[in-house]
Amino acid sequence: MAAAHPLVIVGASYAGVQLAASARELGFEERIVIVGDEVHAPYQRPPLSKGLLTGKTSVDNLALRGPDFFAQNAIDLMLGRRATALDPGARSVRLDDGAVLDYGWLALATGARCRPFALPGSTLEGVLDLRTLDDALRIADAAGRTERACVIGGGFIGLEVASALRARGAEVTVVEAQPHLLARAFPQLMSSYVENAHRRRGVALLTGRGVRALHGAQGRVAAVELDDGTRIDCDLVVLGIGVLPNAELAQQAGIAVDNGIVVDMLGRTSAPRVLAAGDVASMALPPAPGVPARMRLESIQSANDGARALASLVVGREAPCTAVPWFWSDQFDLKLQMTGLAAPGDEVVLRGDMASDRFSVFYLRQGTLVAAHSVNKPAEHMQSRKLIGARARLGADQLADPSFDLKTVA
Ligand code: FAD
Ligand code: NAI
Repeated sequence: MAAAHPLVIVGASYAGVQLAASARELGFEERIVIVGDEVHAPYQRPPLSKGLLTGKTSVDNLALRGPDFFAQNAIDLMLGRRATALDPGARSVRLDDGAVLDYGWLALATGARCRPFALPGSTLEGVLDLRTLDDALRIADAAGRTERACVIGGGFIGLEVASALRARGAEVTVVEAQPHLLARAFPQLMSSYVENAHRRRGVALLTGRGVRALHGAQGRVAAVELDDGTRIDCDLVVLGIGVLPNAELAQQAGIAVDNGIVVDMLGRTSAPRVLAAGDVASMALPPAPGVPARMRLESIQSANDGARALASLVVGREAPCTAVPWFWSDQFDLKLQMTGLAAPGDEVVLRGDMASDRFSVFYLRQGTLVAAHSVNKPAEHMQSRKLIGARARLGADQLADPSFDLKTVA
C-alpha cells in the first residue's frame, strides 16, 4: 500500500470511523490514520443516556465496530492522542506528544463537547454532565444512590436522563430555561406533548426558569436555586445544556468557522484538502424553500452521511450529502422518531391520538411534506423519510386520515 498521501482523521467516533470504513469500501488504498483523544475504542453514544443508566445495556455492548474491524481494514487507530495544531500550508497535523503527521487529506471529525456551566456551585461533587463513556459511568454510579435528582436543561440529554433516573425510582425535576422543552428540535405541539408525557410519568418540570446557583453540604451538591428563589433539594445534578463544536483546530489554522466548521455538501472546508463532518461541521444543505443554507445537525445519521460524502471525495467519485435528516430518542416507553426539518409557518397535521402515545405529526410547506415527528409509529416514520426525500405533495386531509395508506403515495 502506498503511503504518500495518507488520510488522517482527527476524532475517533461516528464521523471519523464511518469515513475510514467508507473510504476503504470505496477502494481507497493509501494509509488511513485515526487520531482520537479518548482512551476507549470507538463506542456508541446513544446508550449512554438510555440503557447504560437504566441498567439495560452493559459497557461491554457499546463497541462501534467489531474487535477486528480496524486491523482488517488497515486503519491505524491512535487512541489517547490529541491533535493540537494544524498547518494546512505544510499539510501536517501536530499531536500532543510532539509527533507530526503529514496528510494527503485531513478530516476533522472532532465532534462537540458539553457547554460549560459556570454558575456558583458547579464544581460541587454530584454535578455531572454527559458526553463521553466516562461521564456516563459516573452518572450510572451516582444513579444507584440518588433519591432526588435535578436535571438542568430540557433537551434530549436532559429528558433521556430524566426518564432513566425516574425509571430507577428517583424523584426527578427538570429545569428548562426556555418556555418549552426541546425547543431547538420541536414546534410547540410536540414540545407540549413531551411535557405532558413526562409529567404523567412523574417528572416535575419547571420551564422558563433560570438557575442562579447550586448549593452544597460537605462539598456535595444539596440543592439548586432558581432565579425566582425556588430551591430544589437534590443529591445529584445532571447538566444537559447543549454542546459547543470542537472547532478550535480549524479556527486556529485560519479555516472558516461559524458555529462549526463551514463545509459544502462534500465536506470541504475553506482550506484545500481539509474536510470536516459530524457534530463539528456546519454542512451546506440542499437548497429548498424555508431551509437554512447550512446547519450543524447534531445526530449520528448526519455524522455518518456527512462522512460518506467525504469518502466519495477522497476516492474521486464525488457524491454530495443530500440525505434527509433523521434521528430518534427513547424516553420511558416512548420511541420518538424525527425526520426532515420543520420550520415556523409550516402547516402542522396530526395523525392519530396523542393521548394514546401512538401518533405522527406532519409538517407541510406549500403542500410538500418537509418533516414528520412520530411517537411509537416506526412504520410511519420510515414512510415519511421516503416521502420527504421524494418531496411528495400531499393534502392535510390525507395525512390526517389514519386509514389513508402512506405507502400508496410513494
Ligand atoms: P463525537 O461523537 O463527539 O466524537 C468526536 C471525537 O473526537 C471525540 O471522541 C472527541 O474526544 C475527539 N476529539 C475532539 N478533539 C480532538 C482532538 N483535537 N484530537 C483528537 N481527538 C479529538 N444522536 C442520535 O442521532 N441519536 C441518539 O439517540 C443520540 N443519543 C445521544 C446520547 C448521548 C448521551 C450523547 C452525548 C449524544 C447522543 N447523540 C445521539 C448525538 C450523537 O452521539 C452525536 O451526534 C455523534 O456522536 C456525533 O459524532 P461525531 O463523530 O461527529 O462526534
Ligand atoms: P440541546 O441543545 O438539545 O438542549 C439543551 C437544552 O438546555 C435547551 O433546551 C436549552 O434551552 C437548555 N438550557 C441551556 N442552558 C440552560 C440553563 N442554564 N438552564 C436551563 N436550561 C438550559 O442539548 P443537550 O440536550 O444537552 O444534548 C447535547 C447533545 O447531545 C446534542 O447534540 C443532542 O442532539 C445530543 N443528544 C441527542 C440525543 C438524541 O438524538 N436522542 C440524545 C441525547 C443527546
